[in-house]
Amino acid sequence: QQPPIMVHSEVGSTNDEALKALHQGAPHGSAVVAEQQSAGRGRREDRGQRRVWYSPANANVYLSVVLRPKLDASRISGITLACGVAIAQALRELGGGDVRLKWPNDLYIGDRKLGGILSEAATGVGGLEGVVVGVGINVNVPGGEFPAELRDQATSLLRENGRVFDRLRIIQAVRGAILGACAGLEAGGLEDFMEAFDTLDAARGREVRFEQEGVAMRGVADGLSAQGGLWVKRDTGERAEVMAGEVTICGL
Ligand code: BTN
Repeated sequence: QQPPIMVHSEVGSTNDEALKALHQGAPHGSAVVAEQQSAGRGRREDRGQRRVWYSPANANVYLSVVLRPKLDASRISGITLACGVAIAQALRELGGGDVRLKWPNDLYIGDRKLGGILSEAATGVGGLEGVVVGVGINVNVPGGEFPAELRDQATSLLRENGRVFDRLRIIQAVRGAILGACAGLEAGGLEDFMEAFDTLDAARGREVRFEQEGVAMRGVADGLSAQGGLWVKRDTGERAEVMAGEVTICGL
């Protein structure tokens, strides 16, 4: 039997609710969903401020899953990548179309962002207590309803496929995918996800911009490294391994 899915009509952030549940002892696999978020958190920072995740009511999926992975600290960082691979595959299986991944954990269709993943670790007195994997997916927002500043960069399953999707099925499939990814990581490590990431990689072979130690750089994305970073071929001939921060596909 699967642990419960807690459904809210509105919360600040489903990740905060799931972190609370985790601290209160919620079992591995418990999930929090909301129809709407008033303070959904994005991963990126903009001038020192966390980006707000666009979270309109009754249209999208805002899901956070409590995980208690049996992984040591060095392997826990692979969780977002593994989850990204599994979620992209699940959305494809539901007929979502050509869902791809932009390192480390953006979901894309074509040149537009479909969703994103925000993983947050929770530590207690005994060390790592667990991890919350939060996923936002634009599902039934018509293209014309995105706010003007997102309209060109963001997309939804409806916009791409011309039909409305059952959000409950997506929630169940995505939670299953996250649990499967966690189990896969425990059993075989990140190596087991590398090949799949490669086939889903939205950036490979494309020119990208990124920053290293505050210096802006460019190069051609060249796939996932064994450490879970992104290889970028610089025009100087060397390969840079990007381990943190943002990689932007040029022209997007
Ligand atoms: C990104 O910036 O790409 C990550 C976005 C993650 C958004 C989801 S929506 C559900 C969960 N709750 C949050 O506050 N954020 C994540």
